[in-house]
Amino acid sequence: MIVAIDGPAGTGKGTISKLVAERLGFTYVDTGAMYRAITLKMLRNNITLDNEDGINDMFDNTVISFESNTNEKGEFVQNVFLDGEDVTFEIRTPIINETVSPYSVLPLIRTRLVDLQRKMRSSNDLIMEGRDITTVVFPDAEIKIYLDASLEERANRRYKEFVSKGIETTLEETKDSIAKRDYNDMHKEMGALKIAEDAVYIDTTNLTIEEVFNKVKELIQNKKDGN
Ligand code: DC
Repeated sequence: MIVAIDGPAGTGKGTISKLVAERLGFTYVDTGAMYRAITLKMLRNNITLDNEDGINDMFDNTVISFESNTNEKGEFVQNVFLDGEDVTFEIRTPIINETVSPYSVLPLIRTRLVDLQRKMRSSNDLIMEGRDITTVVFPDAEIKIYLDASLEERANRRYKEFVSKGIETTLEETKDSIAKRDYNDMHKEMGALKIAEDAVYIDTTNLTIEEVFNKVKELIQNKKDGN
């Protein structure tokens, strides 16, 4: 079974997907992490957006992989590896937050990553989240969900996450950065964030994580029961 989840930044796509992976045994793929890892590699290697050969060459020689682990608090976490190096922390810093959105607009980067994402379909149940999973990557997914929340609530959630990780920023800065990313995500030529016609829309602004998880679990259960 494939569960595809889209939605803007800070709506809880990652949190919910991790719970589905941990509690229901799904394989979890965070496609935003893939865009982030590619952005990091391009920045490190000074590969500019106009360097088509350089980008193709980089993709031919790049391995992005995920590993599920338990952290010291006993929580389910997913580590992201770029060519074998653990980049889990580095891909979530403000510099990557700023850069990833314009980089993810480039059709060549999208084509190469969508191709990789489609190859991740396997015999195990899969939950994949991002911006174009329900519309482009797996329009045939058994379950399609669009998660949403108000900008204020999403900025609050992200800001708390930054503080807990010791990343220095302000609530205002976080809000501005999310608003900018929303605009870019919704206005790109290819793979723009939109609500698929047959997606289940969930507004998480006033819902707890458990409440959202229960809704998703019910959708999965109903589908597995053949309803
Ligand atoms: O989910 P995230 O915030 O980690 O994603 C980082 C960026 O990657 C986001 O600003 C848009 C882009 N992205 C995308 O264009 N398509 C996806 N399927 C996932 C992410």
